[in-house]
Amino acid sequence: MEMMHSLFWLLALLHTICPGQAWLAGNLLMTGPKAYLTYTRSVQIGAQSGIEECKHQFAWDRWNCPDSAIQLKGLRRATRESSFVHAISAAGVMYTLTRNCSLGDLDNCGCDVSRNGKIGGRGWLWGGCSDNVDFGERISKQYVDAQETGQDSRAAVNLHNNAAGRLAVKATMKRICRCHGMSESCSVQTCWTQLSEFREVGNYLKLKHNQAQKLDIDKKRMRAGNSADNRGAIVDAFSSVAPTDLIYLEDSPDYCRRNTSLGLYGTEGRECVQHGEALSQWERRSCRRLCHECGLRVEERRTEVVSSCNCKFHWCCTVNCEDCSQVIVKHVCARREGDGHSFRRRYHRGPSSLSKSVNM
Ligand SMILES: *[C@@H]1O[C@H](CO)[C@@H](O)[C@H](O)[C@H]1NC(C)=O
Ligand SMILES: *[C@@H]1O[C@H](CO)[C@@H](O)[C@H](O)[C@H]1NC(C)=O
Repeated sequence: MEMMHSLFWLLALLHTICPGQAWLAGNLLMTGPKAYLTYTRSVQIGAQSGIEECKHQFAWDRWNCPDSAIQLKGLRRATRESSFVHAISAAGVMYTLTRNCSLGDLDNCGCDVSRNGKIGGRGWLWGGCSDNVDFGERISKQYVDAQETGQDSRAAVNLHNNAAGRLAVKATMKRICRCHGMSESCSVQTCWTQLSEFREVGNYLKLKHNQAQKLDIDKKRMRAGNSADNRGAIVDAFSSVAPTDLIYLEDSPDYCRRNTSLGLYGTEGRECVQHGEALSQWERRSCRRLCHECGLRVEERRTEVVSSCNCKFHWCCTVNCEDCSQVIVKHVCARREGDGHSFRRRYHRGPSSLSKSVNM
């Protein structure tokens, strides 16, 4: 089963409509217990929402969660970025199933009321509909983790990152309370726990991605060869990793550059933002990060957009409008003049060289 690795399941699920992939999805479903068929649609939607969140979180990064990242070859490497893809996908599946459960979409599952009536803290009792994350976690695990069939360090890393993604869903939950008592005096409150917006899960995991750790496996012991040694070396390496941390095995490739064998497009042609209201620091530096620091220049592209304007209503009943044209300015990374394929030589990375490359 050489092909059954990484997010193979995701590809299969996202492409169930594609005839070429149909047998894969069919295979996956037929072999699982029949009850799981019920959840398939939710799993699909959850995985998709994970990928959309990935694209949002990395919109202004050199690596921008390209579709190749969720395909076979993109995930053969266990990089910092693939750790995020695993975590956010597992989180998306858990999140969707948990929501489905609370909304009563699923027959055999409902709110978590196990603590209702018990004292939760000073002045409040558990009550109401707490989101049933244990259900979401369990089903997500069965679907997502089942695709990781290997015994090697890569499989162990993928499983760890899946679990870290699910922990992120729990870590971002919030407590909601409602007041009771004489004329809303709030002498007693009932509280329940609720999922945050999925965006919060994405923000949380993006931070975890920034702080991701490279797993340090004892190579000598791995080379010794026997499988007990290998497992021992993997277990030891994991002992220093917190369950909520994202981990990776290989350093990321150079995302500035196009590399078709890795399914990477490079940053040439990418849009960046410079001016505008309410831009975060991260966004305002996108031209520097995507263009200048990758040895590219920023090109201003103006396009004229014509639309209706100054519309007047005449009694009765016509509307006359004028055509107004508006110039839309975009900034795009472009190759420097006379700089064929050799921009590597002028590749700036260290902060010391920034001042030279910032100006447009
Ligand atoms: C689960 O929720 C998603 C959207 O959140 C919805 O599209 C899907 O239909 C739901 N699943 C079921 C079984 O109702
Ligand atoms: C693509 O990436 C691989 C692996 O990092 C590297 O060996 C190869 O040289 C790269 N190719 C190009 C054209 O940069």
